[in-house]
Amino acid sequence: MEADIERIVITAEELDQQNRRLAAEIESDYTGKPVTFVIISNGALMFGCDLVRLISIPLHLDTISASSYIGAESSNRLTIRSQLKLELTGRHVLVVDDICDTGFTLASVVNELKPLGAIDVKTCVLLNKPARRRRDGAVTPDYVGFTIDDLFVVGYGLDYNESYRHLPYIGVLRPTLYS
Ligand code: IMP
Ligand code: MG
Repeated sequence: MEADIERIVITAEELDQQNRRLAAEIESDYTGKPVTFVIISNGALMFGCDLVRLISIPLHLDTISASSYIGAESSNRLTIRSQLKLELTGRHVLVVDDICDTGFTLASVVNELKPLGAIDVKTCVLLNKPARRRRDGAVTPDYVGFTIDDLFVVGYGLDYNESYRHLPYIGVLRPTLYS
């Protein structure tokens, strides 16, 4: 597994530090507000679960399943595979995803949730790749862990063909594995 990784881009310690910073910021912004975290699985499972455990204000937690990637290329077709179980009326919603790449997934999930009666819908991503953002109607994430270059990364929830999600750090694959 380690042999497949060309280099580590963000270490486990750096992830933890940044999660603590984000959690503190979110906690202060949402103090006294009814907030529901909507974690986009599978990619944001690690990040979302680590993040909520660093937050001590009351919150609700739900997941939505979305995928738009096939291999290392965005397929441009989004599949949202599960329905929310929680009522969002009268709640502040914070959508949590692993990465904002073209922004298509985040924008689509936000559009899906907006009509459901939330007071507002904001977004939090671990990684932001602004170089890849599409101009047409893509979102700008409200909370960002790390801004990275246009690299295909894996680990800490991020996959390549469903592998490598369980790595505790974020790294770049050897190019021979996906070219
Ligand atoms: P977007 O819709 O183009 O913003 O893509 C978002 C989704 O594509 C993320 O939730 C990831 O699942 C996947 N993705 C984008 N960039 C990467 C990457 O560098 N590594 C692994 N998955 C990625
Ligand atoms: Mg993915």
